Amino acid sequence: MTDRSPLRFVVTAGPTREYLDPVRFLSNPSTGRMGFAVARAARAAGHEVTLIAGPVALKTPKGVTRVDVVSARDMLAAVKAAIVPRKGHGQDRTCLVMTAAVADWRPAECAERKRKKGEMADTLKLVRNPDILKTVNEIPAVRRPAVRIGFAAETGEPTSEAARKCREKGLDCVVANDVTAPGAGFGVKTNQVTLVFPDGTIEALPLMSKDAVARRLVRLAANLAERK
Ligand code: CTP
Repeated sequence: MTDRSPLRFVVTAGPTREYLDPVRFLSNPSTGRMGFAVARAARAAGHEVTLIAGPVALKTPKGVTRVDVVSARDMLAAVKAAIVPRKGHGQDRTCLVMTAAVADWRPAECAERKRKKGEMADTLKLVRNPDILKTVNEIPAVRRPAVRIGFAAETGEPTSEAARKCREKGLDCVVANDVTAPGAGFGVKTNQVTLVFPDGTIEALPLMSKDAVARRLVRLAANLAERK
């Protein structure tokens, strides 16, 4: 197929926050840089982009529609709203890129007022958050994005875990990295990633800027969309 018409990219970025009262939350150190870079690169390549961002301190890339969210459940609702099929736009033109570091757990209860030390137990009861990519994978094929790319931030050799996530979440590719490697992971401008595909193929990319990784992923998503 040679059709190179613009795609619809839905990109998630940053951490989620799971509040236990108005002044305390569970979260992680994701800065959102990787997702913002993907949104910027997709827009620069002429695609339509919705960027769903957890709490981050980054400027919205020009021409990108941004939706701010706080919790994993907010992010799931925003993703579902952003991927709804539209008249005249087949889902074969939609790419979901989940760079967000979604919190897997949230406190079982969020108090309306600040919890006082004296009232708090030493243990926190947690409940599991929904898995956004798994939820999307359960949507009937005609209504879910044709291309779905996930990220796997691991500590240590990441490819076997990434392959498992690729299978379990029905993904076209998992972008795996070892966040403990120099120049990779949270809060830095570079990344060293390995692309893991469902057929077991692996492509290790060199250390490069997050912008360069983003451009590579946008090209990959466009190529995957052409093959659907
Ligand atoms: N993800 C998601 N919903 C979640 C958690 C993660 O959609 N509740 C997505 C992430 O955005 C990422 C991919 O799933 O694209 C892998 O996330 P990761 O945190 O590495 O994996 P988990 O599924 O949380 O598995 P584990 O905790 O076993 O590493």
